[in-house]
Amino acid sequence: MLGVDIGTSSCKSVIIDENSQVIADASAGYGVDMPRLNWVEQNPVDWWNAVILSIKKVLKESRINTDALSCMGLSGQMHGLVAIDSGGNVLRPAILWNDQRSFQECQSIIEMVGGKERLLEMINNNMLPGYTASKILWLAQHQPYIYEKTHIFLNPKDYIRYRLTGDFATDVSDASGTGLFDVEHRRWSDKLLSILNISKDRLPSCFESIEVTGYVNAKASGMTGLPKGLPVVGGGGDAVVQTTGTGLIKEGILGTIIGTAGIVAMGLNNYKFNEHGSLQIFCNNYPGTWHAMGVTLGAGASLEWLKDILYDDNCDNIYKRMNENAAASPPGSRSLIFLPYIFGERCPYADPLARGAFIGITYQHHVPDLIRAVLEGVVFSLRHVSELIINCSDVPISEIRTSGGGSRSMLWRQIQADVFQLPVKTVNGSEYGGAFGAALIAGVGSHIWTDIYQAIEMLKVESETDPDYRNKDLYDELYDNYKSVYPALKSIFD
Ligand code: XUL
Repeated sequence: MLGVDIGTSSCKSVIIDENSQVIADASAGYGVDMPRLNWVEQNPVDWWNAVILSIKKVLKESRINTDALSCMGLSGQMHGLVAIDSGGNVLRPAILWNDQRSFQECQSIIEMVGGKERLLEMINNNMLPGYTASKILWLAQHQPYIYEKTHIFLNPKDYIRYRLTGDFATDVSDASGTGLFDVEHRRWSDKLLSILNISKDRLPSCFESIEVTGYVNAKASGMTGLPKGLPVVGGGGDAVVQTTGTGLIKEGILGTIIGTAGIVAMGLNNYKFNEHGSLQIFCNNYPGTWHAMGVTLGAGASLEWLKDILYDDNCDNIYKRMNENAAASPPGSRSLIFLPYIFGERCPYADPLARGAFIGITYQHHVPDLIRAVLEGVVFSLRHVSELIINCSDVPISEIRTSGGGSRSMLWRQIQADVFQLPVKTVNGSEYGGAFGAALIAGVGSHIWTDIYQAIEMLKVESETDPDYRNKDLYDELYDNYKSVYPALKSIFD
């Protein structure tokens, strides 16, 4: 099975076998444009070129006969807006998940539906500036010439699906993140679409993640080397697929992902109403299952920001060096607190105006303390988000499964274990993120495994980090201080 993930910084591809073992992996990168404060864009054609490159590389590296591939799955950054005309051309750069320009439009949508409670009844989610719906309204308002010409609005991975198969289709998990989807009934919300005057014809057909949505066509086969006719399953939004890829479909285990953003997630055994709309409750990658999560926007991104301002060189092992540096600072970073809201925040506070901060700097603080404070601040934010998720489940949490680039750092895993006072585990495949999860989903879609539960039973724990109880009180106290920072600074941010 092949899994392809269209991330924010690169496209990753993996090929796995029927024992869920990775045979080969490859990636190809692209840039991000930030033309104005709060704007974040990418060219969808860059994604497609990177997809071609990474698929060619992974096929070559795997040395398999391509006819041995049974199916492929797609995962991708969620909530992005790709506007396509009737000839299949991209009309403008994609507006990404962490773009905050459509804040006003979110307020307008909430007013148009008659308040947040009515909105929650329709889509079980609050309207956040990252979501596709508010971006569509922004487009109609600010670039009406493009809005009029748009034949279909797609999420990032579904643009790649279109290039591979020629079909306009999506899956229930990514559709949930558009802000236009009736998450309870797993279909587009006719009610909301009619209030917003968006015709359903301008949205892709929606499938379950494990369903086949189309087949690789001759043109894409020629460009990528994939066999013509290879089935492509629905797949899903990266945050959901990556959680599935670490084996979390049921309640009781908390998933954390430290990528550009930080995610705390859990599978839900059944549909749950999203009280106050503080979480994101989406359809999960298996029929009849749901997924709860909260996203802190600046996780790996905060470390990257610090790297960029501290170091001129960008050598391959720069993060390793930063980790070694951070380890020289004691747990608690000598009481230095970092608030990671560098892109504004989504959860636990939906506040695009929130900002990052270092609190409590003294002349005794040096670079190692700054780095460690960033690692700890990100984990405090994850713990803050986790309080909402834990409230939403009746099952006690026994462990954390972590994935994403940040999970490769032993120090960051230890900080998670100590701050949460729970064992932190990684399983095979977790370092390949959404691409691995997408390949697992493709295996279920092509009946290699009978269901998703059989697929995830095969996953093996690769590392386990136990909490150090000696750090419990220190971190609990620092966490309480951390939680008081945002309320204290809010009036400055506004
Ligand atoms: C999920 C989210 C991010 C993006 C980018 O809600 O915003 O995970 O999907 O990875």
